[in-house]
Amino acid sequence: MCGIIGVVGDTDTVSTLLSGLERLEYRGYDSAGVALVRPGETWRARCADGTESVAALRRACDEAPAGFRSGIGHTRWATHGAPEAINAHPHLDCSGHVAIIHNGIIENHTELQEGLEARGHVFTSVTDSEVLAHLIEEARGRGLDLLDAVRDALGVVRGAFALAAMDATESDVIVAARRISPLVVGTAAGVTYLASDVPAILDRASAFYAVNDDEVVRLGPEGFRAVDLEGAPVRLRQLAIDWDLETAEKGGHDDFMTKEILEQPDALRATLLDRRRPDGSITFDELRVSDDELRAVKRVVLVAAGTSHHAALVAKYAIERWARLSVEVDIASEYRYRDPVVEVGTLVIGVSQSGETIDTIQAVREAKRRGARVVGIANIVDSSLAREADAVIYTRAGLEVSVASTKSFVAQVAALELLALRLAQLRQTLAESEIDALVRGLGAVGTLVEKALGRRDEVAALALALLDARDFFFLGRHVGFPTALEGALKLKEISYRHAEGYPAGELKHGPLALIEPGVVVVAVATDLALHEKLLSNLAEVKARGATVVAVATDDDETIDSVADYVLRVPATEPMFSPMVDVVALQLFAYAMARGLGRNVDRPRNLAKTVTVE
Ligand code: F6R
Repeated sequence: MCGIIGVVGDTDTVSTLLSGLERLEYRGYDSAGVALVRPGETWRARCADGTESVAALRRACDEAPAGFRSGIGHTRWATHGAPEAINAHPHLDCSGHVAIIHNGIIENHTELQEGLEARGHVFTSVTDSEVLAHLIEEARGRGLDLLDAVRDALGVVRGAFALAAMDATESDVIVAARRISPLVVGTAAGVTYLASDVPAILDRASAFYAVNDDEVVRLGPEGFRAVDLEGAPVRLRQLAIDWDLETAEKGGHDDFMTKEILEQPDALRATLLDRRRPDGSITFDELRVSDDELRAVKRVVLVAAGTSHHAALVAKYAIERWARLSVEVDIASEYRYRDPVVEVGTLVIGVSQSGETIDTIQAVREAKRRGARVVGIANIVDSSLAREADAVIYTRAGLEVSVASTKSFVAQVAALELLALRLAQLRQTLAESEIDALVRGLGAVGTLVEKALGRRDEVAALALALLDARDFFFLGRHVGFPTALEGALKLKEISYRHAEGYPAGELKHGPLALIEPGVVVVAVATDLALHEKLLSNLAEVKARGATVVAVATDDDETIDSVADYVLRVPATEPMFSPMVDVVALQLFAYAMARGLGRNVDRPRNLAKTVTVE
């Protein structure tokens, strides 16, 4: 989730790059760097000072010689390689002439690096990105200009990228390219810019253009031209941007919550990228627990709070079903104080978006003190959870600003389900063909989430119709239960309406007494295996006067008999359904909250990161 900026033809290159990086700092703050290029000379500065990286870079740039008209800059969110200066971008080739910055993941970097090293290239970082500099160097050596050299390099890489490359032997040119990771080009008189996000260049450029997947752009002071990977010319779509800086930071949306809900397909794809080796084995580069240690696991305990706790509950179903391991899920603040039993072979997984939630950190510490092996699932690199745990898997959802967690939930479920499949692979509780099908299915969830997001208007219309309702029960069975809990949490925290999540089968053990006309029951009804039972539960609440809203799959024809309103979502493998179904519930909560005039990004009484007990 790094930030990228570039400029050609500027008289104030350093300050353009630094002010852009300051605005991009939220995308990643492990380290920051710039490279300035002019004929025959590349000047580079990189700093890895955590949240102070850009400030440190500003001081380092005081040493920059004057007169550079072109350069590139980067703020890093580490995926491969520790957050250290040697891994900070820009990376250089062996000659020191080619400089690159990259956001994304090069999936086949290991084999590419082996080949490059065999041909004499020397690597100076532990990143997946550096291969790009050396691949471009080789293509330049074959006489290709920078544009063709970048196209040539991209012909052999797999993965996601927004990249920019410069070469001191062809200065005043930046070549940029995109696949999955965002990239925009900006123009002004005699100066051309590129950035991962509009805010970085908002006050400098006067026109903005979107780069699409698999397009390569050559930027010069006089403007730009774009081609596809085969070299055929393409036209970039001009963006109609009349945003102020605040709107720009929200990606043009009214609030961060909308931006983050819409970012979920990308969050999923980024979290799942580069998690499989060529032999099919599932891998987590950052997970420093050996296969033998994972094989020896006898019991899994997940600890988390709030939305992360709901993602952990989904993982219980997946780990038990696929890896046949006994799983317990605990609210982090309860685990710590209840004298938990930690036997040999207990794997404790702490789940936290921020990686700073005090309850989760303390629970993880307690588990470690009692001898458990601890894995963290965190979104923020180098957060306390990442440091306290023996090993960490990063969800790569990007910064979440809105207090209500949205994209973190889907990214956490994806990471945890992939870990469940890794455990199944090591324990041989699923056949390789089943694992293969499930990993592929997981990879397709992003597209289903996109489809669910496409139904925003229908969901909003329903929320507005129910605006006066004050009591909501969210019901589900199997993984529909944690999804229901998450739907209820979203609604209560941003709309301030009373909402409870229950396992549908539990309702008749007490809460049914609360059902009366005016109460809305929202059912997560996408699991067809348990459909009949859920339909009976809904008939029970309908008979007592509740208004029934069901989240159901497109092909479900039976649901209309019990539901007053149906929110349709695409069907998927049941274990993946929380990532799709939750979208309808997030959109519902959002539309209710907006309809009621709430501040969705900053709900009353709540904080994004809870560091008090
Ligand atoms: C709900 C929400 C909170 C967090 C909880 C844990 O929308 O945001 O419930 O999920 O405070 O936070 P992390 O995941 O940072 O540990």
